[in-house]
Amino acid sequence: MSDTSARPSAAFLRASAPLAGDFRVPGDKSISHRALILATMATGTSRITGLLEGDDVLATADAMRALGAQISRRDDGVWEVTGCGPAGLKTPARPLDFANSGTGARLVMGVVAGAGISAKFTGDASLSRRPMARVTLPLALTGAQIEDGGTGKLPLTITGAATPLPIDVTPEIASAQVKSAILLAGLGAAGHTIVREKHITRDHTENMLALFGAKISSQRSGAENAENIVTLEGHARLRAHDIAVPGDPSSAAFPLVAALIVPGSTLRLKNVLLNPQRDGLIRALTRMGGNIKRVNERMEAGEPIADLQVSHSALKGIEVESDVAPSMIDEYPALAVAAAFAEGTTHMAGIGELRVKESDRLAAVEAGLRANGVDVEAGADSLRVTGGAPIGGACVTTHDDHRIAMAFLVMGLATQNSVRVDDTTMIATSFPNFFEAMASIGAQS
Ligand code: S3P
Repeated sequence: MSDTSARPSAAFLRASAPLAGDFRVPGDKSISHRALILATMATGTSRITGLLEGDDVLATADAMRALGAQISRRDDGVWEVTGCGPAGLKTPARPLDFANSGTGARLVMGVVAGAGISAKFTGDASLSRRPMARVTLPLALTGAQIEDGGTGKLPLTITGAATPLPIDVTPEIASAQVKSAILLAGLGAAGHTIVREKHITRDHTENMLALFGAKISSQRSGAENAENIVTLEGHARLRAHDIAVPGDPSSAAFPLVAALIVPGSTLRLKNVLLNPQRDGLIRALTRMGGNIKRVNERMEAGEPIADLQVSHSALKGIEVESDVAPSMIDEYPALAVAAAFAEGTTHMAGIGELRVKESDRLAAVEAGLRANGVDVEAGADSLRVTGGAPIGGACVTTHDDHRIAMAFLVMGLATQNSVRVDDTTMIATSFPNFFEAMASIGAQS
């Protein structure tokens, strides 16, 4: 595994020839967090292959050790996690530091609330600015005590109730992190915990809980299963389960868009997770005229997987409606870059959540595209990009955000002048060997 911290922090990528070859995307971040967490709550030893060894997931592994799991990485790259069962989790001796990881922090808040233990949660400057009340408010309904000084942000301490209550909630925000935190807390409650989603979000927690032996069901209705009621039977006894982590579609987004915008390119992205709650970008790019084929489709760890065959395409602008936002919420920076090379206007609606991700992604994308000659405008919860042949030439401020950095590095592969980003060190949170992987298909740094 490479070390991006050894690189100069500012960087750019160029393509002097078409991109070509096979591209192996790193393990899915959402599934990696969940595999470590559920293996910790289970009895027995789970083996995890293909775990994403990015900083975010490593922070979750550290937190799971502090809660009592035995975790080791074998020489062949397989991670072994011996869990402690729900009753065996212990109050950690030190604060749980989640660094940049919102997923790790929010999911483990649910674990702590349901396990009758207490933990302090901390994170880096970016994570400490992000809203946590969306998770702590429902967790308080289980009887957990929340001490955050009224900020709704980190640092905060959660003390789970001795007898957590099962809750029945309808979150206002479409968020898999909120849903997952409530379900993980529900494992420790007697009776049924119910989450009623107005719009379905990624369902990896539900899929993996079922694999580990929990009784969980989903009732979906409406267009494209818009509504979703998840019911979990509490006091579940989770049993160890081996997990093969598929490739992350949110990381695949970058070589995917790169192949579409660099003339003459053809890539095969291997082993990509194509859960219907995660493949919104592929569907949007296909509608834009992108030549993307799913080959070798199969199921692994309860999830649909395929290779993606993608080649350079003449893209055209489209309307991206708000109802698809949860299925591609992390992919809008990459989509905006693709839109900058498309003929006509792409309008993306219902994406206010982008303002509270690792950075304010609407503002960061707008500033980066505009500086590089693209006609763009961000609204409170929307983005309009009118494409063409962007001139590039500017340095983009990444605001400590890995996906902003990777999106603009990809943009620079096809602009007239190179696009520099001010920092790349944080790319290690989700894609530790990004530069090496891009170099392997012909992108030069
Ligand atoms: C994630 C859910 C999404 C996503 C994040 C990972 C998860 O957040 O942006 O990167 O693993 O559950 P929200 O559910 O808060 O939208």
